[in-house]
Amino acid sequence: MPVVSYSSISVSPPLIGVACQSSSFTLKLALASKAFSLCLLDRSRIHAIERLATRSGSQVEDKLTDAGLDYEKGSKLDVPIIKVAEATLECQLHSRIRLGDHVMLVGLVKACNASDKFRDFWDFKRYRAVLYTGWRDGMTTYDAARRAI
Ligand SMILES: Cc1cc2nc3c(=O)[nH]c(=O)nc-3n(C[C@H](O)[C@H](O)[C@H](O)COP(=O)(O)O)c2cc1C
Repeated sequence: MPVVSYSSISVSPPLIGVACQSSSFTLKLALASKAFSLCLLDRSRIHAIERLATRSGSQVEDKLTDAGLDYEKGSKLDVPIIKVAEATLECQLHSRIRLGDHVMLVGLVKACNASDKFRDFWDFKRYRAVLYTGWRDGMTTYDAARRAI
C-alpha cells in the first residue's frame, strides 16, 4: 500500500517505522510474514500508486500485478521488491505498537538499494519524488507536476 507515514527511527540498529491503519491488508501480511519492504517510486508511477491506494489487497489475487508493477523477491528477505523502484528497504519485523487507530510497524533494515539517481544525495533532476499534498479528485503531488507526467 502507498504510505506517507513512515520515518527513520534509529541509525544503529537501522530501524524504520510505518504507521498502518488497523484495517489495511498490508498490515495483516506484514504481521503474518514478520517482514515488509519499502519501495520509493518516481512520480511517473503515480497512476499505479493511485491504483494501489484505491483497491485493497484483500480484493485481488495479486495487488502489485493488478497495478501493473512487476516485482521480485528481496535479496535477503522474502518480501516483494518493485522492479522499477528507485530505492528499496527490506525490513524484518522488529516490533509493533498500537498507537490510537494505527499500528506502528517497526522494521529492522536487512538490505537496501538505490538507483544511480542517488549517490550521496538524490539527484532531483532525475528522480522526481511524489509530493503528497492531500487527497482530492485523485492523488497527491502538485497540479503542475501532474500535468507534466
Ligand atoms: C499518498 C497516500 C499515502 C498513504 N499513507 C498511508 C499510511 O501512511 N498508512 C496507511 O495505513 N495508509 C495510508 N494510505 C492509505 C492506503 O494506501 C490504502 O488504505 C490502501 O488501499 C490499503 O491497502 P491494503 O488494504 O491492500 O493494505 C495512503 C494512501 C495514499 C494515497
